[in-house]
Amino acid sequence: MSSAPKEMKGPSEEALEAPVFLDQTLRPSSWDEYVGQEAIKNNLHILITAAKERGTPPEHVLFYGPPGLGKTTLAHLIAHELGGALRATSGPALERVGDLAALLTNLGPGDILFIDEIHRLSRAIEEVLYPAMESGVLNIIIGKGPSARTLDLPLPPFTLVAATTRVADLSAPLRSRFSGGTFRLEFYSHDDIARIVKRSAGILGVEISPDAINEIAKRSRSTPRTANYLLKRARDWAQLKRAPLSKDSVSAALGMLEVDELGLTPLDRKLLLALIERFNGGPAGVSALAAALSEEPATLSEVHEPFLLQLGLIERTPRGRVATRAAYEHVGKEPPEDLTGKLL
Ligand SMILES: Nc1ncnc2c1ncn2[C@@H]1O[C@H](COP(=O)(O)OP(=O)(O)OP(=O)(O)O)[C@@H](O)[C@H]1O
Ligand SMILES: [Mg+2]
Repeated sequence: MSSAPKEMKGPSEEALEAPVFLDQTLRPSSWDEYVGQEAIKNNLHILITAAKERGTPPEHVLFYGPPGLGKTTLAHLIAHELGGALRATSGPALERVGDLAALLTNLGPGDILFIDEIHRLSRAIEEVLYPAMESGVLNIIIGKGPSARTLDLPLPPFTLVAATTRVADLSAPLRSRFSGGTFRLEFYSHDDIARIVKRSAGILGVEISPDAINEIAKRSRSTPRTANYLLKRARDWAQLKRAPLSKDSVSAALGMLEVDELGLTPLDRKLLLALIERFNGGPAGVSALAAALSEEPATLSEVHEPFLLQLGLIERTPRGRVATRAAYEHVGKEPPEDLTGKLL
C-alpha cells in the first residue's frame, strides 16, 4: 500500500460512482418521456429556463422520496437540459475533501454535480460544501497544527443536485442551502404507471395486452422501478412458457415472485403479521419491528413503510406504527375491538 498523502489528488475511484447499467435502457431521456410528477417538472422548467435566460447555472436543488420514484432520472434530465454532463457521486463515496474539490473544480459549463444519498455525507465534507454552495468558494485547509492555513479557492458557478430517501437526516443548515428548491417525489397514479409499463414494453420490444399492463401496474407499488422490474420478470416467464404476455401470465409470473395483488412482497406481509401478532397490532417502534424481523430499521422505514402507509395498511402515531383494519383484512386476521382507539 502506498502511503502518499491523500489530500488534493484527483477523485478516488470510489468517489465516482460505477455506471449503473440496470435501468439505463428504460430511463427516460427527455422530459416528455418522464411520466407524472407534473408539479416538480413545472417548477424545474421555470427554474432552468429563467437561469438559462440569465446565462447562469440554476440554483441547487434537492429531491427526496422513497427509492425508485425517479430522483436520479430528474438529475440526468436537468444536466441534459443544460447541455452538460452529470458528474455523479454519493454521500458515502465522498470521503475526502480533496475528492469534492476535484469534482467541483472540474465542472464544465452546463455540468451539474449530483450527490446521491446526501444524508450520508460526513461532517467534514458538509463544512466544505456550505461555502461552496452559498458563495462559490472552496475553503481548503493546508498544513497541520499551528502552521495550518485556509486557502479560499473561487469556483466557477455550478449547480448541485442532490437526492435522498431520508430528508429528515439532513442537517438544517444543509437543507437550507438548496435555494433552487426542495422537491418531494410522490408515488405514481395507476394510469401513470400503466403508461410507463407500456413505454418500457415498447423499448424492450415485447407485445403486451392492456389487461396485462393493468395487472403489472396494480402490483408495482406505485413505483416506476418496480413496474419495470415486474415487466421484465413477467416477460422472462412468458418467454420460457412460450406464452403471450397476458394478464394470466403476469399473474402467474408475479405469483412466483410472491408479489401479491396489492404489490406486497413477503417482507411487507411479514411486517404486517409481526405488527399484528407479536405487537398486538401496535403501536410498535421501527427498531422493535426490525429486530422482530431480523431486518435493518432503515430497510423498513425507507423501503417498506412508505408504501404500507400509502396503502393505508399501517399508520404512524406518536407512539409507533399501528396496523389498520385493512391490514388485518389483508393478512386474514380478525381486528381487535379497540382498534379505533389505537389509531388516535
Ligand atoms: N417519471 C418516470 N417516468 C418513466 N420512468 C421512470 C420515471 N421515474 C423513474 N422511472 C424509471 O424508474 C427507474 C428508477 O428511477 P430512478 O433511478 O431515477 O429512481 P430514484 O428515485 O433515483 O431511486 P433511488 O432512491 O433508489 O436512487 C428509472 O431508471 C426509470 O427507468
Ligand atoms: Mg437514485
